[in-house]
Amino acid sequence: MNKKRVGVLISGRGSNLQALLDARGPLCPYEIVVVISSAPDAAGLARASAAGAPAIGLDHRRYRKDRAGFDAEIDRLLNEHAVEIVALAGFMRVLSPAFVATWQGRMINVHPSLLPAFPGLHPHERALEAGVRVHGCSVHWVTDAVDGGPIIGQAAVPVMPDDTPDTLSARVLSAEHLLYPACLSLVCGGPSLGPGGGDPLIASAF
Ligand code: GRF
Repeated sequence: MNKKRVGVLISGRGSNLQALLDARGPLCPYEIVVVISSAPDAAGLARASAAGAPAIGLDHRRYRKDRAGFDAEIDRLLNEHAVEIVALAGFMRVLSPAFVATWQGRMINVHPSLLPAFPGLHPHERALEAGVRVHGCSVHWVTDAVDGGPIIGQAAVPVMPDDTPDTLSARVLSAEHLLYPACLSLVCGGPSLGPGGGDPLIASAF
């Protein structure tokens, strides 16, 4: 099988990265060829190393006055590893329009809400405030609209009466860990998939 070469961008604990790593196997249509973190001490880098994936810490604070330089270095590293698909997994930096344009159609993200509801920060708090009874997560193509690109797949979870942001977040995170590898596999295995085209993908309740 000709596996797609995937680069994963992270900033923190990397539990979604772990789910993507754990899903690898003979029938998996992707391999993870590099993991890049915007925080050099991110726990996710150790997960990558433990799984045998090249792990690179790129301290965004060194680029405080040079956002374009930070993005250019990520682009260079992705190309150096011949990456075909980029998976954002808890990557906490907003990427520049130029970077997004370069990778558009080849870059996906996981967001912890049922988009288009609750894009951006604090989705669990906002879901509880809004009183929704169903919440979840989405995997989508990355465009220059933050959390606004075409949706690839979604997973729904119930909101319980006594939920706090933490309990709700934990339930959604478990769904993310199932949804993200499934969507990445679909993107890497389907010949006709892509933004604005292809089949309607996953609509699941885990
Ligand atoms: C996840 O909830 C993801 O949806 C969001 O950031 C969180 C990252 O968690 N974008 P982890 O680093 O994958 O554990």
